[in-house]
Amino acid sequence: MNDQLFGQYLSRCRERVESALAVILPEASIPPQRLHTAMRYVTLGPGKRVRPMLVYAAGEALSAPNERLDTPACAVELIHTYSLVHDDLPAMDNDDLRRGRKTCHREFDEATAILVGDALQSLAFRILASDKSPDLDAETRIDMIETLAIASGSRGMAGGQALDLAAIGREINLTELENMHIHKTGALIRASIRLGTLQAPESDPLQVRGLDHYAKCIGLAFQVVDDILDIAGDSQTLGKTSGKDQANDKPTYPALLGMEASRDMAERLREEALESIQSLDAKADPLRWLAGYIVERSR
Ligand code: IPE
Ligand code: IPE
Ligand code: MG
Ligand code: MG
Ligand code: MG
Repeated sequence: MNDQLFGQYLSRCRERVESALAVILPEASIPPQRLHTAMRYVTLGPGKRVRPMLVYAAGEALSAPNERLDTPACAVELIHTYSLVHDDLPAMDNDDLRRGRKTCHREFDEATAILVGDALQSLAFRILASDKSPDLDAETRIDMIETLAIASGSRGMAGGQALDLAAIGREINLTELENMHIHKTGALIRASIRLGTLQAPESDPLQVRGLDHYAKCIGLAFQVVDDILDIAGDSQTLGKTSGKDQANDKPTYPALLGMEASRDMAERLREEALESIQSLDAKADPLRWLAGYIVERSR
């Protein structure tokens, strides 16, 4: 795989998940129109779709049938989008810009943004519960639902967000910061890989464990890089306002370690991620490139 092939792979995954999402989301013309319009506005905006890509790439690495991966890819993107909508609210990070457009509560209103999050979350679980993929047994379906529920709840993303809010203006140590990042961002990324590997139940457990470790490493790296970009990136490229972490007095990796050491840490995490999937063949190459993409991205 080279840069060009990887670029094509990313575009294919994006198109695939975006066309599935466009069908899954209720039409804007269906009442309540304002809510449905807002759900489509936030979800179909230009996100990177990293979590869906991880679902596809993890499934493909273990030769899971591609058509089994669309529903979990959509489900995790719906949860992620809901988390962004709520994260941007005035009660949380109070942001005006997301995915290069006005945030949901700015384009619509706060109550709509709260309901959009609620409804996207329900939709994610609904599509998993009613997934009609061929050969999908009830046990795997329940496993998918449980995986996403744990990753998004108080022991996962929502819990991490609570730690984030509780840390505002406080001095926390590196262990606490890592714990916060692992939960608020790492949990959904880890779930993305697991949702992919669940579609290949006959796989070698050692390889599945390696993929889980890969997920833990890139999940943490993803938020370390997000923290770095909040300082080093510009709002136009990021599609969200830079400099907000410092303005909101958030503890971040660059604030605790400095930029240089944060970059080194992201690089080390990438290397550890790659080591943990060493035994996988070329079908895991998209995962290898994704690890690089996550660490080197500029948005
Ligand atoms: C931003 O996630 C929020 C974090 C968890 C760091 P992304 O950087 O994946 O945002 P989109 O989906 O591309 O907009
Ligand atoms: C967000 O972390 C994590 C979520 C669960 C949404 P950030 O607050 O740093 O994400 P951005 O920078 O607003 O995208
Ligand atoms: Mg936040
Ligand atoms: Mg934020
Ligand atoms: Mg951030």
